[in-house]
Amino acid sequence: MRANARFMTSRRSLLLAAGAAGATGIAGGIAWWRAERTVPPEPRFVPDAAFPNRLRIPGNDGLYGVLDVAGSFAIAAKSVQQEIVPGVPAALLAYEVEHQGSRYLNPLIRLRSGGKIHAQFWNGIEETSIIHWHGLTVDSNNDGHPHYAVGGGKTYEYNFAVPNRAATYWYHPHPHHLTGKQVYLGLGGLFIVEDDEELALQQALALRFGETDVPLVLHDRRFDAQGQLAFAPSNDEKADGFLGTQVLVNWTPKPYFEASTRIYRFRILNASNARIYKLAFLVGGQALDFQLIGNDGGLLDRAHTVRDVFLSPAERVDVLLDLRNARVGDAVTLASNAFDAMEHEDGPPDPGTPAAAAPAAGPGANDTHAAHSGYGRTEDKSAPTAPNTTAANGLTGGIPEIGVTLELMRIHVRRKEAYARSVPATLSRIVPIAANCQSPRVIALDHVKMVWRINGQTYQHESTPITVKRGATEVWNIQNAQASMPHPFHIHGFQFQVLERRGSPGQQKALAVNDKGLAASDLGWKDTVLVWPGETVCIVIDFTHPFPGDQVYMLHCHNLEHEDQGMMLNLKVEA
Ligand code: C2O
Ligand code: CU
Ligand code: CU
Repeated sequence: MRANARFMTSRRSLLLAAGAAGATGIAGGIAWWRAERTVPPEPRFVPDAAFPNRLRIPGNDGLYGVLDVAGSFAIAAKSVQQEIVPGVPAALLAYEVEHQGSRYLNPLIRLRSGGKIHAQFWNGIEETSIIHWHGLTVDSNNDGHPHYAVGGGKTYEYNFAVPNRAATYWYHPHPHHLTGKQVYLGLGGLFIVEDDEELALQQALALRFGETDVPLVLHDRRFDAQGQLAFAPSNDEKADGFLGTQVLVNWTPKPYFEASTRIYRFRILNASNARIYKLAFLVGGQALDFQLIGNDGGLLDRAHTVRDVFLSPAERVDVLLDLRNARVGDAVTLASNAFDAMEHEDGPPDPGTPAAAAPAAGPGANDTHAAHSGYGRTEDKSAPTAPNTTAANGLTGGIPEIGVTLELMRIHVRRKEAYARSVPATLSRIVPIAANCQSPRVIALDHVKMVWRINGQTYQHESTPITVKRGATEVWNIQNAQASMPHPFHIHGFQFQVLERRGSPGQQKALAVNDKGLAASDLGWKDTVLVWPGETVCIVIDFTHPFPGDQVYMLHCHNLEHEDQGMMLNLKVEA
C-alpha cells in the first residue's frame, strides 16, 4: 500500500525524432489545402520533448479509420505490422476490414441507431477468438460469448440490428482465458452509434469528428528493447492485472494535440487490461473544470461540471473541454491524478495520508492481504517482471502502479478561433427505472488464494448460476469484499442504471453529486461500473429484450486478467 502514491512516472524525454509522428489523414489534408490557397504557412510547430508525437486521429482508413457501415463486410483478426513507436514497425494483432476500396485496421465502426450489422468474422490468428460488441443489445448468438469462439482459420457470422441509443461503444475479443492477451496485443476498436439527439449536439457545438470531436482510447503497454509488445503476466500479475510502462492514446505514445480557442469534445475509452485512471485536465498543475456529457450508454440529461473522473477498464466518458478563454501558447495536460487504488482495503477510509506515512501491509495484514499485495506492490517484495531498462525507444522503464500521477497527453492551444457556441442546457432525457435497493440480488466479489470469485464461483462454460426472467426488473447489490481490489463490473446485453453507492472510499465519496453517493459519471446508462474494496454498488437492470427464446449473456470483472482467471459467470435470461 505504501507505494501507491509514489511517483513512478518516467519523466525521461523520449529519444524519438520529433516530427516523425505517424499521424496522417486529416493533418495531411489540411496542409495540402493550405498550400493550394497560398495561405502563409504557420511557423513550424515544435512540440515539447515530453510529448513529441502527434496524436493519431481516426482518418478515412488505416488504424482506427472511420468505417461508416454500408451493407455487409468481412472482418479478419490477423497479425499485422504497424508503427506504434514512430519508425519502429511492430507486430500487432488487429481487425482488418477491406470495404469499398479502403483498408482499415481496428476500424471505428459508425452507424445510425437502428442500423444493421452483417459481418463475417474470419479468425486469422492461431488461437480461438470471437468478437464481442461491448455495450450493445444483441441476442446471445451475436454477443460474442466465449461459447461461440472459433479456431484459427474458421469464421463466424454476425447478423444483428443495433437498437441502442447513440453512444461510444466498443468491440473486442472474448475467448475464455485469452481475452486479456488478445486485447493487449491489439485487437479492439470503437463502435459509435448516432441518433438525432447526438446529431443535434454536434450541430449545436459545431463539432467535426476527428478535428473537434475526438475519440481517445487509453491503454497502457510495455515494449521490449526492440519496440515490440510483450504479454507475459506473472502469477502476481494474473491476480492483480497486467500493467504497462506507458499509456498510449489512440496507439500514440507521448502524444500532443493542437487546438484552437473553442469547445472540444473527447470521447474517452479505457481499453486498458487493468489500469484505472482519474482523469483531469491540468494547466500549470491546476485542474480545469470540464463538462461531463455522457458515459457508457450515451448522453446524460445535461452537462455536469467536474474536475476529475474515475475511468476503469471498459468504461467510457464523453467530455467537453472549453478552451474559449485559453490563450494561444497555453498548454493543457490530460492527466491521471493520484489516488489510492486500495483505499479502504484495510478498513475505514484513510483521509489522504501522504504516501510516505501510509503503513505498508505489516503486522496486521492477514493472508488474504498477502495474496494480492502486488497491487500496491513495494519494490522489495516483488520485482517487476517487465524489462526495467533504458532501451533506445525510451518506452521501457518502471511500471507505474495504479493510482500514481500520469501525464497522458499535451494539448497545445495554437490558434484563435471565433467561436460563439455554448453547451445546450438539455442533452437528452434519461427515464429513471423505478426501483429501490431494498431487496436486491446480491453479487458478491471476493477471492480465495489469489483467485477472484463472483458469489463464491468462477467461470464454468456450461453452468448458468445467475438466471433471470425476461422482462424482469432486477436490483443488484454488487458487494466488494473489504480485503479486495477495485473491480470494474460489467454485464453483457443490457445497459443498467446505478442507484446507490454505499461504503465508498473517501476519494469516491468526494465526487458524489447526490445523496445516493453517485458521481456524475454514474448517472445515465452504464454497462460497466467500478466497485471499490469494501463498497456496495446498487444497480437496476431491465431485462426486457426482443429476442425469441432463452438468451445466455455474462457478467464479469473487466480487469481482463481477472476475467481470464474466471471472475466471470454466465447470465441466463429465460424466455
Ligand atoms: Cu467488454 Cu465481456 O466485455
Ligand atoms: Cu461486454
Ligand atoms: Cu476484478
